[in-house]
Amino acid sequence: MAQEVRGVIAPGKDEPVRIETIVVPDPGPGEAVVKIQACGVCHTDLHYKQGGINDEFPFLLGHEAAGVVESVGAGVTDVAPGDFVILNWRAVCGKCRACRRGRPWYCFDTHNAEQRMTLASTGQELSPALGIGAFAEKTLVAAGQCTKVDPAVPAEVAGLLGCGVMAGIGAAINTGNVGRGDTVAVIGCGGVGDAAIAGSYLAGASKVIAVDIDDRKLETARTMGATHTVNSRGTDPVEAIRELTGGFGADVVIEAVGRPETYRQAFYARDLAGTVVLVGVPTPEMKLELPLLDVFGRGGSLKSSWYGDCLPSRDFPMLVDLHLQGRLDLGKFVTETIRLDEVERAFDRMHAGDVLRSVVVL
Ligand code: APR
Ligand code: ZN
Ligand code: ZN
Repeated sequence: MAQEVRGVIAPGKDEPVRIETIVVPDPGPGEAVVKIQACGVCHTDLHYKQGGINDEFPFLLGHEAAGVVESVGAGVTDVAPGDFVILNWRAVCGKCRACRRGRPWYCFDTHNAEQRMTLASTGQELSPALGIGAFAEKTLVAAGQCTKVDPAVPAEVAGLLGCGVMAGIGAAINTGNVGRGDTVAVIGCGGVGDAAIAGSYLAGASKVIAVDIDDRKLETARTMGATHTVNSRGTDPVEAIRELTGGFGADVVIEAVGRPETYRQAFYARDLAGTVVLVGVPTPEMKLELPLLDVFGRGGSLKSSWYGDCLPSRDFPMLVDLHLQGRLDLGKFVTETIRLDEVERAFDRMHAGDVLRSVVVL
């Protein structure tokens, strides 16, 4: 039976979010209804609210979530009611060329749940942010968006693996393929950059150099595993990274800002034959000019990282286990836990750069 729950809605471009009653239908074939326990507040939610993604208002926000499966539709075998799961925003098809080649993060034939949740007051259809919509007591997703993990992990920690933290850790361990003894530089130490630092530390990097323009961010970066910090407001970060790596440059440089000037720094701060990973998301008008001879002469690889190039079924349980063993402290990413009615305030704090993650706990 369809049920009514509370959820956080972005009603229209640049309007404040508000709590509304939403109708969650029963799961259809291949779908699941998940009782949400925690959901992080991400920049992408803010972009939805501001109208930066598309204009299919009203949105049901929230996509970094963990919870318990309440019910499943016909044909669902991978998860069952009672399972503790982390949600991911791409239920991949499993059949296309990208999927068959083991690169499902490039699957564009996603099978997220159909948008069937509605506003109780008007019957209007809701667009769930990133196909999830988890700032709600319950939400409807495709079963392929649910990954079962050890329920011993606190939900507010687990949920973060659904987006930003996975993107950063994955940029280091999956895309950058950081290995034991490598030198790594991470440019931009917000939530994503800090996760890339934690991932590099985890992978056994010999040096992890954090670069930011804000000293507060650099302090936090140290707690995540940065061995050296560079404030690039007063110092040329390329020079500084070279100096810290015996004059060579880093084996892997991870750009976690998403701007041409920081990408240029990343490009020149890597060692010959090193790797540059772009995980910061640029805007459509951004362009970068580089001498082709430098691209040729410096060798190595220039990569972008999509959702940390993660395989949820492989990476979510692994990272949860490492957290539970005390080898990767994901709790550091949770700055504060808040209630469902405090999301608007969390956006303000995010905008001011005061938090790594505010997490709604239900
Ligand atoms: N040089 C170095 N650091 C910079 C610069 C710069 N020119 N400009 C901004 N920064 C720093 C900020 O001080 C901040 O610490 O980059 C960090 C960005 O962090 P957040 O705004 O918290 O963003 P985050 O959530 O980490 O995401 C970073 O990755 O996934 C993408 O869309 C996301 O593009 C975004 C990026
Ligand atoms: Zn996100
Ligand atoms: Zn596919």
